[in-house]
Amino acid sequence: MKFYITTPIYYINDIVHIGHSYTTIIADIMARWKRLNSFDVFFLTGTDEHGSKIATAAKKKGKMPLIFCNDMSLKFKEAWNLLNISYTDFIRTTEKRHFSAVEKIVQILFDKNLIFKKKYEGLYCVGCEKFYLPKDLDEEGYCVFHKTKPLIQSEENYFFKLSTFQNLILERITDPCHEEYIEIYPEERKNEIIGKLKIGLENISLSRNIVEWGIPLPFDKKQTVYVWIDALINYITGIGYPKNMTEFQKYWPVNIHLMAKDILWFHAIIWPAILMSVGFSLPKKLCVHGFFTLNGNKMSKSLGNVISPQELVSKYGVDATRYLLVTIMPFGHDGDISWEKLTLKYNIDLANNLGNLISRIVKMAGKYFNFKVPQANFDLKLVKKIVTLLREDFIINMNSMQLHKAAQDLQNAITLVNKQIEYDAPWKISKTHVHELASYIFSYLQAVDIIALHLLPFIPVSAEKIWHTMGASNDINKIAKKYFTDFIIPKSGFSVSDSQLQDTEGLFARIV
Ligand code: MSP
Repeated sequence: MKFYITTPIYYINDIVHIGHSYTTIIADIMARWKRLNSFDVFFLTGTDEHGSKIATAAKKKGKMPLIFCNDMSLKFKEAWNLLNISYTDFIRTTEKRHFSAVEKIVQILFDKNLIFKKKYEGLYCVGCEKFYLPKDLDEEGYCVFHKTKPLIQSEENYFFKLSTFQNLILERITDPCHEEYIEIYPEERKNEIIGKLKIGLENISLSRNIVEWGIPLPFDKKQTVYVWIDALINYITGIGYPKNMTEFQKYWPVNIHLMAKDILWFHAIIWPAILMSVGFSLPKKLCVHGFFTLNGNKMSKSLGNVISPQELVSKYGVDATRYLLVTIMPFGHDGDISWEKLTLKYNIDLANNLGNLISRIVKMAGKYFNFKVPQANFDLKLVKKIVTLLREDFIINMNSMQLHKAAQDLQNAITLVNKQIEYDAPWKISKTHVHELASYIFSYLQAVDIIALHLLPFIPVSAEKIWHTMGASNDINKIAKKYFTDFIIPKSGFSVSDSQLQDTEGLFARIV
């Protein structure tokens, strides 16, 4: 089975911040999770490089637009490498392959008579790269996302007959029995779109004649394709359209388009209309998350309040940054964050709960068994408890992208082992009862092994480290793939008797 997931392609005029990182890490965790469940995964991310916003930013830096784009898109790639993002492909809209896709799609729309020319005057927000009606702005006429005043722009453009799709789209996002049903998650976002859709759809401008930095229209080279139409098409270019149709047909339709609420309209209305026009299937699911806010404001370069992923990594490390970002706010809601909140969560979940569990087990094994996995009969009671706890909730939460809840399930499992250790109090047992001690410690090791398998999508490097620390020597990824297929634990467990436990130095040390 295939699983195709995308992030939005990010505007490269902004520096990479934790908002972009949040979306990308969620997509990465889902991609890793699906790989562990034996799906053939395609995970696409990339950068959105055309339009007036980018051209202006390049000009400000005194750079040719493409040079500016090369530099900036590299910064996104570097950030994703730092965060251990396992994307399958990184698409840039300035690539040749993307030009071919956009030209082809736009030509089809033209040939199908879905495009017409019209003089237009409207309020344009460059931040959103979007025309607004006065009713969409706040009381003072400002864009609600960028807190800037859209200016009147007037030009003769080509328009896409979006309005003809109103009922078709409404049907596809409201009727779960429809063959081409698009699920919008969470429900409140879907209702918002339905509400707007019912008011009516305006035709939208598909080209700009005052924006040079873009893809020329194949049927009128004096105009360039409107940046949002250009951008949305990345989702099919990335999997091979139009050159490699076999690859395209293998992965399309997309299983999940992931994004924040600011750009749902484009994905829920404009993108399906384009896809329907050219006769392609529709996305299966749109997953919409909230914004990180800092003091109540959306994070963006224009507001000057960004936190970069590099800052988080230098304080918490890569894996903890991944973990903290996706668990600090519930998926679908906004969350106001601060360094204090992040550090508190780091200390509670990672240092005090997980880190402490690992270090006390290693200490006991060190004291009583010379840092070796003891030989013992496998008492399955504790392991079974962990397996049950995680099988019931964790999998449902992962599959429904409730990653903060899935992480909480893991925390509960970790707490359970910590509590079991306190209950057993192995340190009170005399060294002469070596079998009893061995059996306790052996079962803690096995319980942590199971937890490590589940931690893998969130904190891949640390999960593997924990796995080896516990004396389990096989390839954790292979074992996890098998485990998530049949949920069978080998008779002798995962940690191998007599193997050496490895050092845990530096695994989620407390931060003050
Ligand atoms: N280029 C368009 C998307 C085109 S997709 C065909 C765009 N780019 S963007 O750089 O502005 O990125 C928007 C996305 O970045 C959001 O949808 C979200 O995924 C992420 N985030 C940007 N700021 C964010 C927060 N403050 N909080 C959470 N996510 C944020 O729109």
